[in-house]
Amino acid sequence: MASFQSAKEEIKRAADIVEIIGQVVQLKKAGKNYVGLCPFHSEKDPSFTVNQERQSFHCFGCKKGGDVFSFWTEYHGATFPEAVRDLAERYHIDITKDSYESGDNNKAIQRKELFKINEKAAAYFEAILENPVKGKLGRDYLKRRSLSSEVISQFRLGYAADEWDGLTGFLRRNNVDLDMAVQAGVIVPNDRGSYYDRFRGRIIFTILDQRQKVVGFGGRVLDDSLPKYLNTPETPLFHKGEFLYGLNSSFSAIREKNRAVIVEGYMDCLALKNHGLKEVVATLGTALTARHVRKLKGYASEAVVVFDSDEAGKAAALRSLPVFSNEGLSAKVVILPNGYDPDAFVNAKGLNSFLDLLNRASPIFEHYLDQKLTKETLDIEAKARILKEIVPAISDLNSHPQSSLYVKLISERLGIKEEIIWSELGSYKSSQSKNAIGSDLIQTQGLGVSKTGKTLSDTQLLNLLAHHPHAIPSIIDIEGELLISDPVVMEIVDTIFEKYRQEGINSCNRIEESLKNETARIHFREVLTGPSFYSENEVEQAIEEIRAKACQKKISESLTSFKRAKGDAEALNQLLKLKRLNRS
Ligand code: GTP
Ligand code: MN
Repeated sequence: MASFQSAKEEIKRAADIVEIIGQVVQLKKAGKNYVGLCPFHSEKDPSFTVNQERQSFHCFGCKKGGDVFSFWTEYHGATFPEAVRDLAERYHIDITKDSYESGDNNKAIQRKELFKINEKAAAYFEAILENPVKGKLGRDYLKRRSLSSEVISQFRLGYAADEWDGLTGFLRRNNVDLDMAVQAGVIVPNDRGSYYDRFRGRIIFTILDQRQKVVGFGGRVLDDSLPKYLNTPETPLFHKGEFLYGLNSSFSAIREKNRAVIVEGYMDCLALKNHGLKEVVATLGTALTARHVRKLKGYASEAVVVFDSDEAGKAAALRSLPVFSNEGLSAKVVILPNGYDPDAFVNAKGLNSFLDLLNRASPIFEHYLDQKLTKETLDIEAKARILKEIVPAISDLNSHPQSSLYVKLISERLGIKEEIIWSELGSYKSSQSKNAIGSDLIQTQGLGVSKTGKTLSDTQLLNLLAHHPHAIPSIIDIEGELLISDPVVMEIVDTIFEKYRQEGINSCNRIEESLKNETARIHFREVLTGPSFYSENEVEQAIEEIRAKACQKKISESLTSFKRAKGDAEALNQLLKLKRLNRS
């Protein structure tokens, strides 16, 4: 069995970052790197980069980056020890309990306890549903909702009997810390210093994350009482606004089909699953957020959103347009016939009718236009107002042919000349991108002095050291660091030199983790992730240039001090020596 530390090392050897990230982000090979849309911030053009050779990732947009553990903690909202355990499990690396507990901090210990309590509660609710007496009402209800026993067990549905002390008693008998259970959100303290069950007389929907761990629960009443649904409150494990119900079981189908079907409710998701639609997820009754969409675009390039036909559903469809276009995920909309939600529709008409609707879904933009245009009486002012609202939405489209199509469409529908729409679009775009273009290029490619004040020498020297570590000893010899003026680059180069002196050439893979300053870590990663300025046979030449420049610099510095000292003999000697050196 491996200790925490050696498990970490073993995982690094066994895991492939491209595979791990590739499962949740669509990556494409681009030169020596893989690129994709960043799962951590809004973007339509990929600036998220994964490097297989170095087993690291970096986003040029939001600057997040690091190794496979950093990715796992960031993506899954997990702690570092959790990431080690998860990945150890995944790669079948045995890890001793004692040793991994030694890696835990308070937050990790708390999360682990909460997961344990959630798991116990889930198993309890499942058992109650199967209990011949206590579970009968629940089983009858699910039968009425036509869910198969496979779906019930796959999604870990359960039942909370209508009693105050069911789960509380169970947890107490199992020596669970009840204050922790309160933090998990499954029980509630009363004012007499005791506790009671949060979920009573409800069907339980177990909410599983992508790692199949229980993060929370939803509970539905069996009758018309209110509230109809009750969820686990916000806890360290559960953030409702970013959660997609069903994703844990749908993500491979979403990838295969290259589309995600998004519905609003637990029951809608399960009913569709029950009828055999695999690529479906549900938002938990909240509006669709960028975080939802960011998750999905890691698996598919298209989403179909299914909304109820009521006003709320139509409004939600409109609100989701910018969310999708800002994330660069193309989306279509299905508005169900009056009176149906997805669950009712698929149970009444069958899966094929539902698939027909999906296949005939209109692109969200056309749908948007339809909605806008039916609402307005079209005098000139109304047209101008609609145009102003629409332009940002099309300016977000990535492809020109698509934009042309939409411009044509708007022109026809609004009776405005295409040229006018193009010019509106043009001025909107230039107002948006003024600041974005150029500075990034300078930063990432190291062209000239960037806005952070790095000089060409800073950039070249660091690039050389990062991409050609065998040049390190020569650069140390010729005091290449004299050419550095930027403090961040200085810190990095100091660290490279120091590590080299201590550990030799093999130290180069561990520079990033040795850097204490976050800005330095980010900068170093960007240099590594970016291209090398020098091919292998240009390295000698580059070293020679740096040597000459460093010498030049020493000469001019000595000259200055010589002038200042007015004939100081030692300075003069120094100067002559340097001049000779530079000629040799
Ligand atoms: P069924 O009536 O069981 O078919 O559920 P539904 O999915 O048709 O319900 P509805 O369309 O009313 O709500 C959609 C989703 O919104 C639900 O799945 C819940 O996640 C959420 N929701 C609905 N009602 C409530 C509520 O009263 N409280 C909370 N917290 N969420 C709710
Ligand atoms: Mn319903």
